[in-house]
Amino acid sequence: MTEHAEPADHAAAKLEILPVPGLPEFRPGDDLTGAIVKAAPWLRSGDVVVVTSKVVSKAEGRLLTVPSDPEARDAARRAAVEQEAVTVVARIARSMITQNRLGIVQAASGVDASNVAADQIALLPSDPDASALALRNGLRERLGVEVAVVITDTMGRAWRVGQTDAAIGASGLSVLHSYQGQVDRQGNELAVTEVAVADEIAAAADLVKGKLGATPVAIVRGLEIGDERSTARDLIRPVEEDLFRLGTNESIAQGRREAVLVRRSVREFAEEPVAEEALRAAVGAALTAPAPHHTRPIRFAWLRNRPQRIKLLEAMRDAWRADLVADGFTEEQIGKRLRRGEILFTAPEVVVPFLLADGAHTYPDERRNAHERTMFTVAGGAAVQALLVALAAEKLGSCWIGSTIFAADTVRQTLGLEPDWQPLGAVAIGHPKAELAPRPPRDPDEGLVEF
Ligand SMILES: Cc1cc2nc3c(=O)[nH]c(=O)nc-3n(C[C@H](O)[C@H](O)[C@H](O)COP(=O)(O)O)c2cc1C
Repeated sequence: MTEHAEPADHAAAKLEILPVPGLPEFRPGDDLTGAIVKAAPWLRSGDVVVVTSKVVSKAEGRLLTVPSDPEARDAARRAAVEQEAVTVVARIARSMITQNRLGIVQAASGVDASNVAADQIALLPSDPDASALALRNGLRERLGVEVAVVITDTMGRAWRVGQTDAAIGASGLSVLHSYQGQVDRQGNELAVTEVAVADEIAAAADLVKGKLGATPVAIVRGLEIGDERSTARDLIRPVEEDLFRLGTNESIAQGRREAVLVRRSVREFAEEPVAEEALRAAVGAALTAPAPHHTRPIRFAWLRNRPQRIKLLEAMRDAWRADLVADGFTEEQIGKRLRRGEILFTAPEVVVPFLLADGAHTYPDERRNAHERTMFTVAGGAAVQALLVALAAEKLGSCWIGSTIFAADTVRQTLGLEPDWQPLGAVAIGHPKAELAPRPPRDPDEGLVEF
C-alpha cells in the first residue's frame, strides 16, 4: 500500500456512518474478526471500522471475575484501578484520574463495569494499537478489503461536561491532521491547528453505536485513509507538555509540601511595592503559631513610617558602632560590618517581631523562671518562621535580621514601648529580585537522630 500525500483539509465531501447490527455477545477467545466479517460482509476498501474497546477486551479475555455483591465488586474494581494505574493524576472525591501503561490519562484507568456480567469487570485491551492492526489484517485476509480500524473508549474531557468517545487504538489512518503552515481563506495562518481525526471518528461512530451494548461496531465511510505509521499512541500528549498535569487536589498538596521549602533569606528586593493585603494575610497566618499556656505573646510591629524607621536604624547603628569601637575594630572593619545592616534601610517594608511574655508563669526559683523565658523565646521563633513561610506563600521575599535583639533598649525608646516588649530581630520584606523557587529538602539524616 502506498502512503497518501496529506490532503489539504481533513474534511470529507460526504460521510456515511453505518451501524453493524447482529453481532453476538463476546466471550474470551471469540473470533472478533470472524464476527465482523459475518455481520458486515458489505465492508469496502477505504472504510474505517470503529470498534468499542469493550468487545475487544471481552474477546481478548481482559475480564476480571469479581464477587457480585455490590460492595465487594466495588472494592475489586478499585483495586483493579490502582493495579492498572502507572501514575495517579488526580483524586476527585471517590474517583481517580490515572495514567495507565499505554500512557492514556482517563478516569478509573479505563476499568469499567458497564456492559459486562454482574460478576465481571473489564480492563482495557492490553495493546489496542496492536488489536487494531490485527483486526485490519484479518479483514484484509478474509474479505480482501483495505480498511482502517479505530478502537474506542468513552472518556471525560478536561473543562467540559459529558463524555465522548476517543480513539485508544488505531491502524491504517492518520490519527492527526496538522494544519501547520496552512492558510485559511481569510489569509490567517493555522499555526497550531492539529485535528485529532481518529477521536472525531470515534465520537462520530458513537452516534450510531450508542451505549447500551447492542451495537459495538460502526463503519465510517467516505474519509481519506491510508497511513502505515500513525497509531493512537500519537494522540497521547507527553506529560511534560501537559498544561493540566496536576489536578486541583494534587496542586494543593504540592503547594503544602513546598510551603516551607520556598522560604529562603532574600537580600535583594525589586522596586515593586508590597501589597498591604499580602502582608496582613501573612501576619494573620503567622499569628496562628503555637505558644505556651494558650497565650498570644507575639506582636509584629510594621514600621510603616519611613522617617521613624530610619531614626530607629540610625540609633541602632550608633549603638552598634560604639560596641565595635569598644571591641577595638578599625574604622574600615567597622564600616564593613555596618554596611551589612543596610538591608533594613533599603527593604521595601520592615516588620519587627516582639515577644510579650506577660502570660508567662512565675516560679519561686530563678531556674524555672529562666526555662519559662526560654519557652516563650522559642515560641517567638516559631511565629517569626511562620511569618517568613507565609510571606513566601504570598510570593514575598524576606530576611530575618537579628540586630534588634542586641539593641532592645534603643528599639523600645525609639518606638515608645514598655520594657516588657522584647524585640526578636527584624524582618526585611519585599518582592524578591529573583523569583522564589522551592529548594529540595535536606537529607533527614543530617538532623534526625533516632533513639
Ligand atoms: C535569628 C536569626 C537572625 C539572623 N540574622 C541575620 C542578619 O543579621 N543578617 C543576615 O543577612 N541574615 C540573618 N539571618 C539569616 C541567616 O543568615 C539565614 O537564615 C541562613 O544563612 C540560612 O539561609 P536561608 O535563610 O536562605 O535558608 C538570621 C537568621 C535568624 C534565624
